Amino acid sequence: MKTLLRRGAIALGVLVGAVSIAACAVYFMSEQRVTRRYTLADESIPIPTDSISIARGQHLAHAIAKCTDCHTRTLAGQIFVDDPALGRFVPMNLTRGKGGLGATLKDADWVRAIRHGVGHDGRPLRLMPSVEYNNLSVEDIGAIIAYAKSVPPVDNELPGNTLGPVGRALLVTNKMPLFAAEHIDHSTHAVALAPAIGATVEYGNYLAHTAGCAGCHNDSFSGGPIDVGPPSWPPAANLTPTGMKAYDEASFMAALRTGVRPGGTKIKDPMPIAWTKDMTDDEIKAVWAYLKTVPPREFAVR
Ligand code: HEC
Ligand code: HEC
Repeated sequence: MKTLLRRGAIALGVLVGAVSIAACAVYFMSEQRVTRRYTLADESIPIPTDSISIARGQHLAHAIAKCTDCHTRTLAGQIFVDDPALGRFVPMNLTRGKGGLGATLKDADWVRAIRHGVGHDGRPLRLMPSVEYNNLSVEDIGAIIAYAKSVPPVDNELPGNTLGPVGRALLVTNKMPLFAAEHIDHSTHAVALAPAIGATVEYGNYLAHTAGCAGCHNDSFSGGPIDVGPPSWPPAANLTPTGMKAYDEASFMAALRTGVRPGGTKIKDPMPIAWTKDMTDDEIKAVWAYLKTVPPREFAVR
């Protein structure tokens, strides 16, 4: 009996030891990535000040880049996720109000945050979908920044970010691509010119790669588990011709505006209908025209 108990105690001790070694390893491996600092040269992009560009920037920041999804409609920020296991993720106040970054960010800091997912202090920014913003043209980045700098100041002091044990484990096992900065070629410059705005395949290609469609539905648009989301999200739909047989241009537009499929069923979250509904007719037609040209694939086949 005594030896049995002793053996049990030793086994338990070994297990506790192994678990704490694993926990320490996860902590240090994740901490290395959290505390990594990027030194990137300033990229100068012209920031317009006219009202037409600012209005264009507002549309892009909302319906296309969806900055307002995380930083809110007023750009005053919010606590986006607060979960002891996952962590606290805080898209911060970007206005010039109290607690906001707007008064201190230089133009190059805005560019670095948007295109590279890197903060003014060189830290990798969590959640920022910069892999896709990296495809935005000089003109569109300039318009978004012009708009962000023009919003009224809002006082909103928010707490900082944290990363919980599950968040760290997901980061270390690459199940949650928290830092876009790790997946971007930082040596490239912004695309000088976007395709002309219009209901064309070319402009649809540009939008599909800047409006999050490729981010969630994957690069070949065949859908499946969403790389950039938490494991709880349902898989994205197959947007290649194989998956879109029930659609035509009109029903595609209706789906993006109302969140209802041709068959009458509702499209589930996180499909961002609250943002796609504000895309213009030409933008939706362009994405539809482009999706018709992508190679047909079975669901989730990349
Ligand atoms: C999916 C959510 C999400 C979206 C969409 C998003 N952001 Fe962010 N953003 C964040 C989070 C979270 C942070 C804070 C990250 C951190 O501190 O690690 C952040 C930080 C920033 C910063 C701070 C940079 C610094 O120097 O500290 C800027 C500027 C910014 N975002 C601008 C934008 C703009 C402009 C857009 C749209 C083009 C945008 N964001 C879209 C989540 C988002
Ligand atoms: C944040 C992730 C996310 C983004 C960004 C996103 N989608 Fe989706 N989308 C989804 C998910 C998840 C589904 C499946 C929802 C369901 O199962 O009902 C979906 C479903 C759809 C459907 C319905 C297809 C069907 O099953 O009938 C269409 C159409 C669609 N998305 C188009 C787009 C387009 C176009 C864009 C870019 C403008 C886009 N999505 C951006 C996540 C996303």
